[in-house]
Amino acid sequence: MSFVERLPRQVTVVEVGPRDGLQNEAQPVPTELKVAFIERLADAGFPVIEVTSFVSPKAVPQLADAEEVMRRIARRPGTRYLALVPNERGLERALAAGCDAIALFTAASEAFSQANVRASIEETFGRFRPVAERAQAAGLWIRGYVSTAFHCPYSGPVDPQQVLSMADRLFSLGCHEVALADTIGRATPRDVDRLLALATRAFEPSRLALHFHDTAGLALANVMIGLDYGITVFDASAGGLGGCPFAPGAPGNLATERLLALLEGLGIETGVDREAVAAAVAELREAVPGIGARAC
Ligand code: HMG
Ligand code: MG
Repeated sequence: MSFVERLPRQVTVVEVGPRDGLQNEAQPVPTELKVAFIERLADAGFPVIEVTSFVSPKAVPQLADAEEVMRRIARRPGTRYLALVPNERGLERALAAGCDAIALFTAASEAFSQANVRASIEETFGRFRPVAERAQAAGLWIRGYVSTAFHCPYSGPVDPQQVLSMADRLFSLGCHEVALADTIGRATPRDVDRLLALATRAFEPSRLALHFHDTAGLALANVMIGLDYGITVFDASAGGLGGCPFAPGAPGNLATERLLALLEGLGIETGVDREAVAAAVAELREAVPGIGARAC
């Protein structure tokens, strides 16, 4: 069988621009523009959109309007609207705003965990336990993130065994899917191959997602490795917006338009209209000139 024949026929593209993209914006983006952006992206056909975070507004002021965004978006049937939740306080806010899908996030490196959420990895799981119990009782869909799955901006290369251990703990908490994240966009295809050789033996590939930032321009090459391992869920950010404010050297996420072009070129279905994504980005850029200036 040729390489292309081996690849999955269908892939889920998770659009993270409204969250991972806008959390890193230097200038404030008015709530109504966020709502319009999310609605345009939903119209483009994404099955999943990560729309905001219920984190501390002091830590991420760009997403302080999480409740309003969640309440104001017109929800398309069949679209999953995800929001990040760091602790019980975040879950309460998410539930009150009518969320039915949340993402818990931890890291494979202690130094990044401390910088990102001011807690050790162990403490993040202590926070997650009651969140996951309540979320499951409320019937929410739960994603888990393992940040710094390849490199940490503070402590360097990350041991794949540590990533597997974090993913295992997230699945044990009841996560339906775990996203392995290249937080600073430093992973090479060889790094991805090394991790996935282990991860796809330890877990069902259909329950793993890949979340690439694109600092070195290798994100698409990394996606190709993921596809070859049978991964079918990939995160991307419209316009390549994004980055983590707590990860120095983490500019843009993999741009959704580029990911869609690759998948189209491989004959893989996504159900997403690439031109509609480009139009949504153009509309946002026109309304907020200079947006994405921090992206690569
Ligand atoms: P903390 O500062 O360590 O301690 O927060 P705290 O729990 O004592 O709370 C401090 C203050 O925040 C208190 O307010 C709390 O009430 C408030 P004060 O008494 O000072 O007025 N607070 C909250 N307010 C609203 N909602 C909440 C909440 N929790 C506490 N949920 C915390 C810990 C985790 C909350 C904080 O450090 C935080 O919000 N950090 C932001 C982390 C973040 O959003 N990072 C970016 C997203 S992760 C990412 O980008 C990576 C990813 O893309 C994958 C990848 O690429 O790697 C997913
Ligand atoms: Mg990210």
